[in-house]
Amino acid sequence: MSDAPDAGAPRPRVTIERLAERKARREPIVMVTAYDHPSARAADAAGVDVVLVGDSAAMTVLGYDSTVPITADEMIMLAAAVRRGLTSPLMVADLPFGSYEDSDEQAVATARRFAESTGCDAVKIEGGGAIVDRAHAIVAAGIPVMGHVGLTPQTAVDFRAQGRTAEAARDIRDAALALQDAGCFALVFEAIPGDVTEAVMPGLRIPVIGIGAGPGTDGQVLVFHDLLGISEGRPARFVKRYADLRADMVAGVAAYADDVRSRRYPAPEHGYAMAAGEAERLRELL
Ligand code: KIV
Repeated sequence: MSDAPDAGAPRPRVTIERLAERKARREPIVMVTAYDHPSARAADAAGVDVVLVGDSAAMTVLGYDSTVPITADEMIMLAAAVRRGLTSPLMVADLPFGSYEDSDEQAVATARRFAESTGCDAVKIEGGGAIVDRAHAIVAAGIPVMGHVGLTPQTAVDFRAQGRTAEAARDIRDAALALQDAGCFALVFEAIPGDVTEAVMPGLRIPVIGIGAGPGTDGQVLVFHDLLGISEGRPARFVKRYADLRADMVAGVAAYADDVRSRRYPAPEHGYAMAAGEAERLRELL
């Protein structure tokens, strides 16, 4: 059965089991970020499989210069708006920096708060090492977890591709396998060489979604504002732009400003009329 968007037929809810089936059938999984109601509605209408409320929201919509400052309260407000816009895709929410790393108790409490107050289907956390225990604790509390290895922006000091030496690639493999063993239902591979992806994938039973990790993963994710050309500046090497919405937005607002300044807007068709005879009565009244 095709998952292509069909205006007429409501699509079934995407579940974790459905993603596993897609991996088994080697059908690519499509994931995209969304941060508000209109972006969620667009992703839903386009028929994507997974919507990630990424902490990239810190930069894309809140104007911070990294993912680090965004708070749980800010993420929850955005994720709740996304939830209200989705009907079919699986919804995953990023737990922000500082909200889950300290202890299993902190991780479970934050994941529960996200699940209860946003209705997300799963949470995503970044890294291996001690984070594997946090993933295990959240899964044991009944909340599905997506892991994230390779470039992990919450803690990265070097924002270039990761795993470029054999030892570094082995560390990524070890983290991925540990997260799988901890019960993660899926993983994100971010900014790693395609050769590393190819070498690690055979050991993974769970779906892997790549961003800058080559074509060898089970699916791909891109940031909504990157793929649609809303973000300013030069995008990362792995971004493919499918639209130039920032140019359209600037042109649209500039045309509006021009119309207002030259009094072309508003035109008669943009206004309201009083009931018949009431304009004359008003003049008398005043
Ligand atoms: O926050 C985000 O957008 C992400 C994706 C890049 C996977 O984590």
